[in-house]
Amino acid sequence: MDFNLSEEHLMIRDAARDFARTELLPGVIERDNKQEFPAEQVKKMGELGFMGLMVDPKYGGSGMDAISYVIVMEELSKVDASASVIVSVNNSLVCYGLETYGNEEQKEKYLTKLATGEALGAFCLSEPEAGSDATSQQTTAIDMGDHYLLNGTKNWITNGGSADYYLVIAQTDREKGHKGINAFIVEKTWEGFEIGPKEDKLGIRGSDTHTLNFNDVKVPKENRIGEDGFGFKFAMKTLSGGRIGIAAQALGIAQGAYELARDYSKIRKAFGTEICNHQAIAFKLADMHLEIEAARHLVMKSAWEKDNGINYDMSSAMAKLKASKVAMEVSVEAVQVHGGNGFVKEYHVERMMRDAKITQIYEGTSEVQKIVISRSLLRD
Ligand code: CAA
Repeated sequence: MDFNLSEEHLMIRDAARDFARTELLPGVIERDNKQEFPAEQVKKMGELGFMGLMVDPKYGGSGMDAISYVIVMEELSKVDASASVIVSVNNSLVCYGLETYGNEEQKEKYLTKLATGEALGAFCLSEPEAGSDATSQQTTAIDMGDHYLLNGTKNWITNGGSADYYLVIAQTDREKGHKGINAFIVEKTWEGFEIGPKEDKLGIRGSDTHTLNFNDVKVPKENRIGEDGFGFKFAMKTLSGGRIGIAAQALGIAQGAYELARDYSKIRKAFGTEICNHQAIAFKLADMHLEIEAARHLVMKSAWEKDNGINYDMSSAMAKLKASKVAMEVSVEAVQVHGGNGFVKEYHVERMMRDAKITQIYEGTSEVQKIVISRSLLRD
């Protein structure tokens, strides 16, 4: 067992850390205030290879492993969780889904652009009545011979307004239940596709989250991913990897908030000494660090399993469940360590506390992760 990062891992960590400090940090508070999508930064992340980290270079990707992906996600999330979720959805839901389950034509046409950052992707599973209960899809895609006719509404879609290509899950045969669900590649410019209102959110306000409406959108047959009826399994399999990305995002939020609290405690004085010299603060830092390390081991183990061809459905659910809880708890404590300043935007930790909450909700709530974990345990 080797817990050391390789030379390549250290290099990608330094590149992501440097990018986060120089390109993401300067405007992060303003983007959060204005709910502004970091378009320029996303473009630069494409140039750096961050938008298709695990994709084979023959499709324009960086050809890296899942450990590298976790490292990049953590570094970006330490500074700007809005930017990192854009990266996460594009990498582990859209690019991974297409590379693993798409056919050669779909990869040539779509993946090459998504992996280089030339185009951005979104993953559309959630609906007004199908969040955790993902098999209850109301969006329909009726087989019309050479195309499907897509109708319905998708909710809370990350990259909803900014994406070019959308992976849309829809019911093609209600009688078959989850076996009558399919996944389709939909282009933004197609007639009948309408981007609804942008959500005004508690956190990750720089990412753009929309409702999407599909009104008689004609989807060519060749844009279905996989065999007929593969859509629900496609979503589940893709989300297993997505959960590693969100776990890494949560880890980054926690690590970033912890570092700010630690540094602040070394300069802020109370009762005649730096507050880190008070056991009340020192013990908080010890607890934060301990929990973050525990979460990191789960996240890295899950990524390692993915890299080694081991089933990671349960480990990614465990990593996300733990890391998101740690992100929430650590960011709350980081605000507490900062006292009054913690409540002020300029000190960053209040934003991190707001951003942390979504990691317990998207790509499967904490309760859904417990379903996945308990079912895996009982099946074995
Ligand atoms: N791999 C392969 N197949 C899987 C699977 C997996 N990981 N998980 C489930 N399946 C299969 C099951 O084997 C079953 O197939 P069979 O009948 O052939 O055996 C089928 O899928 C249905 O599975 P379940 O009976 O377990 O389904 P369920 O209705 O009980 O729901 C659930 C299971 C885990 C709760 C699932 O609905 C779920 O994960 N819900 C949460 C959805 C989610 O994560 N949404 C996030 C939206 S995307 C997002 O947030 C992106 C973003 O913008 C950031």
